[in-house]
Amino acid sequence: MIIIIGATGTIGSTLLERLVDLGVPARALSREPEKLRDQIGEKGRSIIEVASADASDPESLRRAFTGGSQLFLAMSNSPRQIELETSIIQIAAEAGIKHIVKISSPAFEKSSPVAVAGWHQQIEKTLRDSGLTHTVLRPYAFMQNLLNLAPTIATQDVFFGAMGDSPCNFIDCRDIADVAAEVLTNREVSGQIYTLTGSEIFSYPQIAGKLSALLDRPIRYINMEPQALNRNLIEHGHMPPWIANHVVEIQAMATVVLERPTDTVKRLLGREPRTLDAFLKEYVENLQ
Ligand SMILES: NC(=O)c1ccc[n+]([C@@H]2O[C@H](COP(=O)([O-])OP(=O)(O)OC[C@H]3O[C@@H](n4cnc5c(N)ncnc54)[C@H](OP(=O)(O)O)[C@@H]3O)[C@@H](O)[C@H]2O)c1
Repeated sequence: MIIIIGATGTIGSTLLERLVDLGVPARALSREPEKLRDQIGEKGRSIIEVASADASDPESLRRAFTGGSQLFLAMSNSPRQIELETSIIQIAAEAGIKHIVKISSPAFEKSSPVAVAGWHQQIEKTLRDSGLTHTVLRPYAFMQNLLNLAPTIATQDVFFGAMGDSPCNFIDCRDIADVAAEVLTNREVSGQIYTLTGSEIFSYPQIAGKLSALLDRPIRYINMEPQALNRNLIEHGHMPPWIANHVVEIQAMATVVLERPTDTVKRLLGREPRTLDAFLKEYVENLQ
């Protein structure tokens, strides 16, 4: 039985759809199981079992992991991420789970620290020390993050950042979910570390150009100093400071570490990754 943590999340919700399409049974966990039952619908409920679990409640994890052989783990970022994922890994090992697929993040150079990436590195070490077979997926920025730019695009025809004109990797979360389904169902490709990207890199000024063409009006990218972006995200975006710091750290990192696409999605899935152009076209209604 495959256990899914993060089933209501961006990657996990798509992974469940893939498993349903493949007819692969799984047990999906949530702190809000009723919401999850509604999310997966009648067809999903015929294949996916839903259970209640909270990573901060070890007893709920023990119950939910009973009979599990594999665990998919995509935990939303929080200052408790190391503590919660460490507990999940320990309880999974005790429960007899044999293989963990973890959503991590790119491993950055020491010269450009990104705190959340450091958390993932620590959790990856716990996985290595556990002795369990583990597959680590390290995706770059989700294309779906670009939907967060919609409010200022809609009201001011602009979006803000601190990446200058540095080109970055983006990946569609649906490709991450497809890779997760593959590594959960094909033993030959499990037990590795995979860095996941789309097939091209793009800068924010280039994305502004794409949006201008799609929306048929000029959309401008406004580059800010990192500290000014941080203040803007907290004061106008109402972000908790630790999330604002994360966004700024990631963008500052992109200006110093050159990003390059990998061919991992194509190697694992036998097809090209989804493109940014296709993503923006599909979600244009959400961006105006
Ligand atoms: N955004 C990016 O560009 C990016 C890039 C690289 C890596 N990542 C990594 O991707 C991961 C997030 O993936 P995602 O976006 O698919 O996730 P997400 O949408 O943020 O949601 C993840 C899930 O976390 C679950 N969760 C949160 N707290 C929990 C708890 N105490 N107990 C049990 N479940 C809990 C939620 O389940 P319920 O609410 O249903 O309980 C939810 O389904 C992060 O670790 C992030 O660092 C993100």
